[in-house]
Amino acid sequence: MADILKIIQQRHSMRVPFNPNRQVPKESVRQILEAARWAPTAHNMQNFEILIVDDKKVLEKIGNIKSRVSETFIRENYQQLSFSEKELVQKKVGILGTNFPPDWRNPAKLEKAVRESVATPLKERIRGSPMLLIVIYDSRKRAPASEGDVLGFISLGCVMENMWLMAQSLGISFHILTVFSGDTVEKEVKRVLHIPEYMKVAFAARLGYPVSKPAKHLRVRRDIEMFAHHNQFENNGLG
Ligand SMILES: Cc1cc2nc3c(=O)[nH]c(=O)nc-3n(C[C@H](O)[C@H](O)[C@H](O)COP(=O)(O)O)c2cc1C
Repeated sequence: MADILKIIQQRHSMRVPFNPNRQVPKESVRQILEAARWAPTAHNMQNFEILIVDDKKVLEKIGNIKSRVSETFIRENYQQLSFSEKELVQKKVGILGTNFPPDWRNPAKLEKAVRESVATPLKERIRGSPMLLIVIYDSRKRAPASEGDVLGFISLGCVMENMWLMAQSLGISFHILTVFSGDTVEKEVKRVLHIPEYMKVAFAARLGYPVSKPAKHLRVRRDIEMFAHHNQFENNGLG
């Protein structure tokens, strides 16, 4: 009980460069996939396929695919930013603005940031990772009567968390890259990996080991009393 909570609390996004020459052991990959295998999914549909990409040539091809940050991302990203550690600690949600280019953090410069955003190769996001796991799903199917397949997406989230927790428990760094499911990138990734047209990319994760010991970064969460409601919505907390 204590162990699982510890792993849940220690799981985090590792955004630093990884060592391209330190492979993730095959047995560990198997355990991560075993964790995915036992994820709960709506109607036990097991609505996922997972591509394990560790061939250097394939990684390079994917790394050369270019992506451009969308206007919507820049604008909506801004709304989630804190501009100091103090602000983030107070807010308890969102992320630090210092993770992003200066123009993305200044409302007066958002227009300029959108105008000047250039396409960059995915290798700048993959940052040396020796392995990508790309989770895809069949867009022709949905969980029974699930409008927009919300239940299917929740299921894919369960797959993500199971894999992430297992990676954490094995000491393997894990970083989600949503950019893989953006329209143009997804199309190119599907071409490189021979993924059928009807399959969609849910998310990709890069796995590996950091090149150097990363600096500790601030992680915040709301207190339980801020999201738990006892019996009635207006009764905050556990009661
Ligand atoms: C569905 C989903 C998509 C995410 N996409 C990205 C992403 O594209 N890039 C990234 O750096 N982090 C991504 N993250 C990680 C979140 O930003 C991160 O989990 C959150 O800020 C909390 O930080 P922690 O993972 O270190 O606890 C994603 C997480 C989830 C669940």
